[in-house]
Amino acid sequence: MRYLIFSDIHGNLEALNALLKHIQKRKIDHFVCLGDLVGYGASPNETIQKVRNLRPLSIIRGNHDKAVTGQDSIETFNPVAAAAIHWTKKKILKKNAEFLGHVKKGPQVVNDLFAICHGSPFDEDYYIFGEFDAAEAFDYQKLPLCFFGHTHFPCVYTKRDSVVEGTFMEGSSNEIKLEKGVTYLINPGSVGQPRDRNPRVAFALYDSDQHVVKFHRLEYDLIDAQHKIIKAGLPPALAERLSLGI
Ligand SMILES: [Fe+2]
Repeated sequence: MRYLIFSDIHGNLEALNALLKHIQKRKIDHFVCLGDLVGYGASPNETIQKVRNLRPLSIIRGNHDKAVTGQDSIETFNPVAAAAIHWTKKKILKKNAEFLGHVKKGPQVVNDLFAICHGSPFDEDYYIFGEFDAAEAFDYQKLPLCFFGHTHFPCVYTKRDSVVEGTFMEGSSNEIKLEKGVTYLINPGSVGQPRDRNPRVAFALYDSDQHVVKFHRLEYDLIDAQHKIIKAGLPPALAERLSLGI
């Protein structure tokens, strides 16, 4: 089976469209979404609709999804992120807010192969930023493989004989072969707001027959996404950061 693992689209329709175009002629058996469909970007409704149309095998909510649907306060959000939440709350259609409000909390066990979470296996809002965080997360992980999002950094953490190691996945088409006896925490990166100083769309493909996870990056119509943010009256910093990949 081939799984498309994608996360943190953040209302960036242009980035999502580039991903959908890329996979058009590729065989994908299942779509798995790790949350944060909205927030920051100017196209929350179109993004939700397109993700729904994919009929994901599994989807979980992110912290921005929770804030937009009133399931969490914006106290922990910086002023720019909070402004985007207020904007999205005004723009989101009722049907889309209802859908988003019913998206499950992570972690979720997808099947006997892997689980997913937005932040970490022990707290959906916790950021796994390094090996210390990953070591704690591994204590809560029940399956050998778990995909997570939230940090917007494509990376792989492994636990081998109680040793935890982290690897940042740079560039396009990096892949890792999953080994028996090793536990993995894998972040596919962010579709709509990469923060690793590489503005290109990030996602991963997991081939469960080959035991391979492949990391991808794609160019997209970034200028269009920026224009929409400015035109919508969202903070201009949200447009600037897209081209910087921060
Ligand atoms: Fe996010």
